[in-house]
Amino acid sequence: MPADSDLIDRISAAPDLGALEQLRVSALGKSGSITALLKSLGSMDPETRGAEAPKIHALREAVSTAIAQRKAALEAAELDRRLATERIDLSLPASETPSGTVHPVSQVMDELTEIFADLGFAVAEGPEIEDQWHNFTALNMDENHPARAMMDTFYCEPREPGEEPRVLRTHTSPVQIRTMQSTPPPLRIIAPGRVYRSDSDATHTPMFHQVEGLVIDKAIHMGHLKWTLETFLKAFFERDDVVLRMRPSYFPFTEPSAEVDVGWSMENGRRVVGGSEGWMEVLGSGMVHPRVIAACGLDPDEWQGFAFGTGVDRLAMLKYGMSDLRAFFDGDIRWLKHYGFRALDIPTLSAGVGA
Ligand code: DAH
Repeated sequence: MPADSDLIDRISAAPDLGALEQLRVSALGKSGSITALLKSLGSMDPETRGAEAPKIHALREAVSTAIAQRKAALEAAELDRRLATERIDLSLPASETPSGTVHPVSQVMDELTEIFADLGFAVAEGPEIEDQWHNFTALNMDENHPARAMMDTFYCEPREPGEEPRVLRTHTSPVQIRTMQSTPPPLRIIAPGRVYRSDSDATHTPMFHQVEGLVIDKAIHMGHLKWTLETFLKAFFERDDVVLRMRPSYFPFTEPSAEVDVGWSMENGRRVVGGSEGWMEVLGSGMVHPRVIAACGLDPDEWQGFAFGTGVDRLAMLKYGMSDLRAFFDGDIRWLKHYGFRALDIPTLSAGVGA
């Protein structure tokens, strides 16, 4: 019989699972040493067999147990080693791990929300698939109104024959209507969101973002509108020298209507908002048309208000200096890394709304 204690020592010292398996095959495999001993029992006379069999079985048992123990120990060690290499230190600061960025449109919407929340405005929402009454009719654009044609509207397939086709909302103004219908005045809301028009070039994409503003109260006048827009634009562009110019204009849903320009100046070869070397249009606005107030079931002799609307993407381009609107929606990771914002930089008025 071989030196069993030597075999058991070698099993206990097997450096890895591969070596252990080799030892198992050499002892218990088809032509292993212990298998050979077991086979030799058959050719023994009964007396010898009676004496040898218990020893051989005990040996096989001892070797099997030793192998199982060593296997468990090696597997536990292997698991520990893997756990150690896969360990994540949750106490590491997030900035040391790769992370995504906040899209400039989301950043600007967060900035708008922060600025207007400080002025007492809530955020309102409406559906992107809108009916024509909310998108047009209630906003004083009846069926034959030329503005309907001007908006390059996407019409949806009717859900059933005879149904008036719904539209992808062409502006955020229908949220004015929905808010006046659902919430009793006085009201102060902004409504940021996606809008759709069939148009595409460097400054137009079929989907883009607007923000709408609406105030409904008693004795509201254009002075309130001008102050609000001035306060908003100064906070947004983070400059005190933001100058506004209001030009008479026309929108069906406001009367009187005004387009708002801001002054710009050249800084380091770039056109920036602030100063007054030239003007550029940033907003549409006006006093809410009495017909719009009446369409929402309110008495225009009792309630007045102002409204404004502007492009969120355009505001982002002006503030952060992008030139091609299409890049906003390409999903190019390099662009997002360059223009994106760190996820934990939340705009606050106290720390500055911009990044
Ligand atoms: N809805 C207009 C557009 O998409 C923008 C606008 C102009 C909104 C004047 C207003 C407003 O609320 O008063 O072009």
